[in-house]
Amino acid sequence: MAAGSLPSLVIILLLSTAVLRYVQSCSHSGHLTSTRGKCNEHKGAECCKAGNKYPRYRCSPPVTAATNAHMTIYDFSEGGDGAAPSKCDGEYHSDHEMIVALSTGWYNDSSRCGKSVRIDANGRSVLAKVVDECDSMLRIDSWNNIVDASQGVWKALGIYKSPDGDYQITWSDA
Ligand SMILES: *[C@@H]1O[C@H](CO)[C@@H](O)[C@H](O)[C@H]1NC(C)=O
Repeated sequence: MAAGSLPSLVIILLLSTAVLRYVQSCSHSGHLTSTRGKCNEHKGAECCKAGNKYPRYRCSPPVTAATNAHMTIYDFSEGGDGAAPSKCDGEYHSDHEMIVALSTGWYNDSSRCGKSVRIDANGRSVLAKVVDECDSMLRIDSWNNIVDASQGVWKALGIYKSPDGDYQITWSDA
């Protein structure tokens, strides 16, 4: 064994342990089986595929200066995508507001409520306020790495194509 390979081995071992611990801590807690009619299909919410199974998550990947996430579109208005007003402030919001809902782990028991996050996508960077949780335990269209953004955020990022789908972004605490 060459000198110096032992420290490398130790580092690799430590890294694998950390990764394993993370994967275990972030494994999903059972599944939800979707039924039709729980969401607004016209907005492209993915939960409408009846019979599909979706993993449920309590946690989200660690937040960094460039946290990878799927941005989806969300209508925070009354009669919009949610049956209830935004969790942070108990209010409905218009499409023009720069607001987001974060996956359960990132929402972090409301610790990010009212805080700004920076979203980087499409060569642009915008600030948006956290107003809601994208509940990955209850909502079947939610994974643990979702930034559910208003139409205003999508527009500010200059993303008009396929607004119903999801868009790969990075975000951070602002
Ligand atoms: C959750 O919030 C607590 C403070 O309320 C903070 O110490 C912790 O780092 C936060 N965790 C995440 C994943 O943001």
